[in-house]
Amino acid sequence: MEIRKVGVLGCGLMGSGIAQVAAMAGFDVVVLEAEQRFLDKGFLGIEKSLAKFAEKGKLKDPVDTVRGRLKGTIKHADLADCDIVIEAIIENLAEKKKMFATLDEVVKRDAIFATNTSSISVTEVMTATKRPERFIGLHFFNPVPVMALVEVVRTIATDEDVFSAAYEFGKKLGKTPVRTSDKTGFIVNRLLVPYLLDAIRGYEEGIGSIADIDLAMMKGCGYPMGPFTLLDFVGLDTTYYITHVMFDEFKERRFAAPPLLKRMVMAGWYGKKSGKGFYDWSNPDKPVPQDAALQAKG
Ligand code: 3HC
Repeated sequence: MEIRKVGVLGCGLMGSGIAQVAAMAGFDVVVLEAEQRFLDKGFLGIEKSLAKFAEKGKLKDPVDTVRGRLKGTIKHADLADCDIVIEAIIENLAEKKKMFATLDEVVKRDAIFATNTSSISVTEVMTATKRPERFIGLHFFNPVPVMALVEVVRTIATDEDVFSAAYEFGKKLGKTPVRTSDKTGFIVNRLLVPYLLDAIRGYEEGIGSIADIDLAMMKGCGYPMGPFTLLDFVGLDTTYYITHVMFDEFKERRFAAPPLLKRMVMAGWYGKKSGKGFYDWSNPDKPVPQDAALQAKG
């Protein structure tokens, strides 16, 4: 089973990153979006990221060659001959199922389908298709061009050769694949989400300021970002959504959204993408902790 052509569904933060690494690794890539303006936005991000790699001499091929492998489309039919299709659309079960049900009718029968979901059950998304044995999870990390890991997720219905092909594909993308199964949160979010939520709970209890908690985890544990910077980076809305899925699955407090997180999301404080979260990101190089606002109003 040789993978040559890669389809990516969605050209947001994750989809554009996945498309970029696939093109950098030498695959032909076609990215599907609902509207041209979403493609334009995603491709702009790809250009910026490629420029960073090129500047440091970290691209195997010239930027033009990589760019030439990438095609954006708003037509499902353009994905018909893809060998693997990776979905990275909005984290919503109904939307994902609708997308896969449509693609299932269009894309060749032996193509592998993969979802980049971070918390929704891969098995549940799979039920929208008639190819359960060719359905897997491929979970990438933000920022996709930089983070080395991809979780390769099998369901009880996944064929062994499909799983092996996906694992090898992860390596060809230049990533380090790990094998995991369709248990909510897989490996990383199962461990990361309770840690992030505990940072918020600790903050609510007064263990330290936003900046000091971040500093403590960076300097004490060698993490590249503290928990609040990471929360703002991942998106508080995304984290909030994940907590719902995980709490619903496990019914354990460690996966439950702290009240402060809920209130910040209700107020539209999503983190870096909305300009404000635990930090004010008006100047991205100098984020300002929001302790005063959060303690007075939260
Ligand atoms: N494209 C290309 N290069 C990029 C890039 C991009 N999009 N973003 C950053 N870089 C490069 C920079 O140019 C820089 O390169 P250099 O070292 O050669 O100069 C290098 O990456 C480091 O970037 P910065 O100097 O700007 O900043 P940092 O040193 O803080 O690194 C980071 C940024 C790589 C994001 C680092 O802070 C980090 O690893 N943070 C943790 C991220 C993390 O945990 N992600 C996982 C989130 S969980 C998730 O995604 C799962 C989901 O389901 C929730």
